[in-house]
Amino acid sequence: MSLFIAEPGAAVAGSVRVPGDKSISHRALMLGAVASGATAVDGLLEGEDCLATLRAVSRLGVLVRRPGPGEVMIEGVGLHGLRAPDGVLDMGNAGTAMRLFMGLLSAQAFDSELIGDESLMRRPMERAAKPLRDMGARIETINGRPPVRIHGGQRLRGIRYEMPVASAQVKSAALLAGLYAEGETTVVEPAVTRDHTERMLQSFGVDVTARGGVVTVRPPRQLQAARISVPGDFSSAAFFIVAASIGARAPFVIEGVGVNPTRTGLLEMLALMGADLRLVNHRSAGAEPVADIEVRPAPLSGIRVPERLVPLAIDEFPAFFVAAACAKGETLVTGAEELRVKESDRIAVMARGLEALGIRTEVLPDGLRIEGGPFGGGVVDSHGDHRVAMSFALASLRASAPIEIRDVANVATSFPGFAALARSVGLRLEERP
Ligand code: S3P
Repeated sequence: MSLFIAEPGAAVAGSVRVPGDKSISHRALMLGAVASGATAVDGLLEGEDCLATLRAVSRLGVLVRRPGPGEVMIEGVGLHGLRAPDGVLDMGNAGTAMRLFMGLLSAQAFDSELIGDESLMRRPMERAAKPLRDMGARIETINGRPPVRIHGGQRLRGIRYEMPVASAQVKSAALLAGLYAEGETTVVEPAVTRDHTERMLQSFGVDVTARGGVVTVRPPRQLQAARISVPGDFSSAAFFIVAASIGARAPFVIEGVGVNPTRTGLLEMLALMGADLRLVNHRSAGAEPVADIEVRPAPLSGIRVPERLVPLAIDEFPAFFVAAACAKGETLVTGAEELRVKESDRIAVMARGLEALGIRTEVLPDGLRIEGGPFGGGVVDSHGDHRVAMSFALASLRASAPIEIRDVANVATSFPGFAALARSVGLRLEERP
């Protein structure tokens, strides 16, 4: 089982550029597949999660060429051009791929079956199946979990769906099915979630409106092929934002990061703790805003995290918990029960790891209380969760002894090359097979 060994005593310095955004990469591959004409993508994340989507798209009969690193050319087959795959589609570790494909595939003329790795086979899929069934889709799960069996050939109708959980994946599954439905499909969000699907559908010429958490898609005749530039993934940048906040001695810069406001809740949370963060050099990559993020060293203090920020920082909590452990005083996160159904139960797994390194925590049903204090060294188990593994590597910047992080192979699902990049800016991080 692969390990990270993170040695204490390091500081970070300089600048980094992180790989492409995972959420946007999945969507570019899927929408490009059903567009009419060739869609060119650059900056695609070539992590295992997006490669699972790329393989699935190919197995659905779409030609995807890869002219260079991060570049793909998708020969779109049109809304009705996908072909039945010759067996089950394996989504690996990727919850986003599975839930978004549920939407797309429930509208096809053929049957399909979706599976994943051990972690994905334990994750809840009924949340995405529910609105799709309301639209007329026929979907089966086993006790709410994969394998997901989709019976094609159903006529879908547009619905108005009030989502019980704030989930961009569920919203996106309904919107993708809505491309094929009779009449318009509206999703009402209980809290704002990432809006990459809405933005990208507009880039492909689809009529989507979004106002105050109410999103409506009207079924198009076709999707017009587009050019998509994928910005750096804010969720990957988050590790360096936290690293620099707790372990830089001079200003540190993360370049070319997607700063869509539905993703950047972490910046607000860290600013409330006293972090010195600035967005500079604003530009855009198609429909998505991009900036460089400058981080200057500053002391952090514990906060109570406003619950409205939780969905806007949902993937950043593992890294945030490490920042909270380095802050003076107590930090309290509530309203974050969704963390329990991510790649691991991120409340339980992070609390256990922090405790193993000498940090006091209190686990709540929907969050975590963390008492800032000195990090010792020790052994932590990431439970195969990429973001947990990377977060504990950051803890070494404040630790008094080495930290061994177990089960880190899945870092490649979202951030291939993380350890080398972290070393290039000063972390003392070794990978062992
Ligand atoms: C994602 C949405 C979020 C996030 C996941 C990616 C997306 O999940 O945690 O990593 O690309 O739509 P939920 O929508 O389930 O909160």
